[in-house]
Formats: sequence, structure tokens, C-alpha cells
Amino acid sequence: MNRLSLMVEHVRKSFACEGGVIPVLQDVSLVLSEEEMLGIVGLSGCGKSTLLSIIAGLVMPDAGKVIFSMGRDEVRAPASSEWYRYVQMVVQEPFDMFSPRMTVGEFLYEPMRGRGREQVHRMVESALSSVGLDTALMDAYPHMLSGGQLQRIVIARAFLPSPKLVLYDEPTSALDVITQAQVLTLIREMRRQHPSAGIFVSHDLAVVQSVADRILVMAEGRIVEALSSSDFVHAKHPVSRMLLEAQLT
Ligand SMILES: Nc1ncnc2c1ncn2[C@@H]1O[C@H](COP(=O)(O)OP(=O)(O)O)[C@@H](O)[C@H]1O
Ligand SMILES: [Mg+2]
Repeated sequence: MNRLSLMVEHVRKSFACEGGVIPVLQDVSLVLSEEEMLGIVGLSGCGKSTLLSIIAGLVMPDAGKVIFSMGRDEVRAPASSEWYRYVQMVVQEPFDMFSPRMTVGEFLYEPMRGRGREQVHRMVESALSSVGLDTALMDAYPHMLSGGQLQRIVIARAFLPSPKLVLYDEPTSALDVITQAQVLTLIREMRRQHPSAGIFVSHDLAVVQSVADRILVMAEGRIVEALSSSDFVHAKHPVSRMLLEAQLT
């Protein structure tokens, strides 16, 4: 099966606000190879979520482009539900992804709409067990579950339609440390079982280092440094140094 690689070229984005426009992304370029997990680390407000929304096709850039390739073919992201199954997102607040009146089962069925009910039922049950949850939770409502359980369900759903790219936007930032470690282990395990490309964004360097081999540092809407996870101690940019020192305190 063809995997997805990604190129982001000279992307710019500004948002209008009272008193003018704020440039949020200023000439961002990156390349993601098939099955690679790329980490992006930066302080809050530097534009990480905006960049992921542009890659996911939810926000249009003012300039620049996002190019996907599969095998040797360049593919433009067609705005079809079929395409959006290929690109999945895991966000910081899993609760926000649920509607309060939707059961866990209904939530998991959503990206699989249009497929045979019995086949989907089996897939959904096995997805729940693969993230370490009891299939009895199929009938539960989101308010009955913990943040860690909800994030596991969101991860189960992200991997259900065999995505080619998964965007992780601070998926552990709202969790306690123990749950954080469990969710990171789960993400590594899910990626092993379902090879896919990924971009993992966080303000927490240690978290990014634990899942990504290559790390980009973002500051004020630009990529300011690129390092391998293991070389990060040699980072030079002041923001990279600040993120490193934040870990040691
Ligand atoms: N839809 C929007 N309208 C106006 N400003 C926005 C919008 N989305 C993001 N911003 C602003 O863009 C900046 C970067 O935000 P964001 O991409 O969420 O950063 P990060 O994820 O790194 O914390 C922030 O100053 C934020 O307030
Ligand atoms: Mg963000």
C-alpha cells in the first residue's frame, strides 16, 4: 500500500484582529517522509496549531502550498470524505471531539460510515480493545469517562480508517504525567501496528523527544532550528535553549 509523504512550501498565514493583522505563520516549509514521525516544538502561541490546521485542510494559507505525494504521484487533497479519512487528527482536549449525546460506539462508527454494519462493529470492538479499553464502554457517554480514556478512544478512532497521516496537536498536554506516559506508549504502539506518517506538536520538548526522531523548533511563526531528537542538547537557538532548560528545572 502506498504511504503518504508531505511537503509544506512557504506557507504564510495572518489573522485579522482589532488594530490590524497578526502574522501567525511566516514562510514555513517542511518535508515529511513516508511513515516518519516529525516533532514540532515551540512556545504557546507560536503558530503550531495553525500549521496543523492548514496541513489538515481546515484552514487555507494566505500563500504557499501543501503537497501530498503517494508513491510517485503527487496528489492534491481532494475535498472528499474519503480523502479526510487519510488525514486524522488527535487534539489536546479529547472531550471537544465528542458530542455530549453521542456514545463511544457512535463516535467510533463515524469515520466508517458507508461500510457494512457487521464488519464495522467488529472493527470498532477490536479498535477499543487495541487501545486497552473494555468493549462494554461502547454504550458509555463521554462525561462518564476520564480524559485518558477519552484520549484512548480518540486515538482508536484516528487509526480505524487506516490513515496515511496522523496530526497530533498536544495530545498529552491536558493529561496527568502517568496518563501522559501511557498515551505516549499507546501512540508508539498504534504507529507500529498501523504504519503512517505523523506530525507531533507540543510545547513540551521531552514529550516530543519520546515519539519523534527529527524535531523542528518553531518560534513566532517560523521554523528556527531542525535537530535530531538525540542531538537536541546541542541546540543553539534561544527558544530551543529555553525549551531545553525548562526540562531541567
Ligand atoms: N482563527 C483565528 N483568528 C485569530 N487569531 C488566531 C486564530 N487562530 C490562531 N490565532 C492566533 O494565532 C497565534 C498562534 O496560534 P496557534 O496556532 O494556536 O499557536 P500554538 O498552537 O503554537 O499555541 C495566536 O496568537 C492566536 O491567538
Ligand atoms: Mg496549539
